[in-house]
Amino acid sequence: MAIAGGTGTVGRHVVGAARRHGHEVVVLSRRTGVDVQTGEGLAQALEGVEVVIDTTNVATPTRARATAFFTAVAANLHRVGAAQQVARLVSLSIVGIDRVPLGYYRAKLAQESAVRVGALPATIVRATQFHEFAAQILGRAKVGPIGFMPSMRIQPIAARAVGEFLVETAVAPAYPDIVEIAGPETIGLVDMARRVVRCRGQRLAIVPLRLPGGAGKAVRGGALLATPATRLLGPGPDAWLEGDDLAGMGR
Ligand SMILES: NC(=O)c1ccc[n+]([C@@H]2O[C@H](COP(=O)([O-])OP(=O)(O)OC[C@H]3O[C@@H](n4cnc5c(N)ncnc54)[C@H](OP(=O)(O)O)[C@@H]3O)[C@@H](O)[C@H]2O)c1
Repeated sequence: MAIAGGTGTVGRHVVGAARRHGHEVVVLSRRTGVDVQTGEGLAQALEGVEVVIDTTNVATPTRARATAFFTAVAANLHRVGAAQQVARLVSLSIVGIDRVPLGYYRAKLAQESAVRVGALPATIVRATQFHEFAAQILGRAKVGPIGFMPSMRIQPIAARAVGEFLVETAVAPAYPDIVEIAGPETIGLVDMARRVVRCRGQRLAIVPLRLPGGAGKAVRGGALLATPATRLLGPGPDAWLEGDDLAGMGR
């Protein structure tokens, strides 16, 4: 089983889940010498691999850059995967991206389209924001004693639970083209960030940021939350904050 982005926030949990289930794992990341955007090192890495799970990411708010990244990655995994007789691709996306006009989400929609039209049978797993999401943003949007956090309603899920689900999906005998997963509870991202800061004992004031326009209205209004068709997977934020995963993230 190959995990693209297996060194990332969710990817390392996919790797952990795959190993716990007894799968041999190949990690595709620039740190392991494979660039899935350019294709460098990919053919060799996919030799003998049966299934690829894609959890790569590009940290940019720019629609064009993110679209170029995600569509190139999907095309390369399909093309090189088919040449190496890979049987299946599982790609991670985000719940609600079709309801929020943000550049990054438009890029994720372009990724989903590229995943659907490729040579390999593919499953798209859409997850809500991770419990780790607030801490990820804090890692980038901190100025001195202040952390800036977008005001949005989320229904977060543990990256660990996403990892387990992706592995189960990758080896299931049959799966729908697309499936959605979310955590069990709704919370404000600002509130989650404040809980993360408290849990870490940090001296950091969280300042809410109101995203402008239709995207801001949508994320504040719950466009990223689960729908009745979404499968819910625990733990909720309280139990997650009591566990070890936050400490395992670094700062
Ligand atoms: N964060 C969330 O709350 C959330 C929620 C739902 C869905 N998602 C989706 O989940 C995916 C993963 O998100 P994340 O937050 O876990 O990302 P992340 O922590 O930023 O990790 C990104 C991973 O991608 C790898 N990568 C980046 N460019 C690469 C390249 N050119 N070639 C090979 N590997 C490359 C990185 O490894 P190297 O740097 O070593 O290359 C790293 O392992 C994304 O598609 C995101 O849209 C995220």
